Amino acid sequence: THVVTEACIRCKYTDCVDVCPVDCFREGPNFLSIDPDECIDCAVCIPECPVNAIVPEEDVPGDQQHMIALNAELSRGWPSITKRKAPLPDADDWKDRTGKLPELQR
Ligand code: F3S
Repeated sequence: THVVTEACIRCKYTDCVDVCPVDCFREGPNFLSIDPDECIDCAVCIPECPVNAIVPEEDVPGDQQHMIALNAELSRGWPSITKRKAPLPDADDWKDRTGKLPELQR
């Protein structure tokens, strides 16, 4: 599967959802997750994300390993998103921040 890492939190640019051929993105209040049961590892979403939040599972950095299980968990409870929408209003203020996990809303 591919994994959405913390960079997405409080940004949610949604460029990724338009290109996914299997509609595997799920939407929360300030983060998108990838449903690992649906992702086919095509990788077309990777270059779409302006904050490079999406990585193949095998390339998830050590400090983002918790995001693998979190994408699976959150995807079970969140609705599908298949059409791009406006990013969160202060996305540009948050895009270069790290350690955003405490900001994640469920
Ligand atoms: Fe998030 Fe990047 Fe998609 S910020 S919504 S993973 S384009």
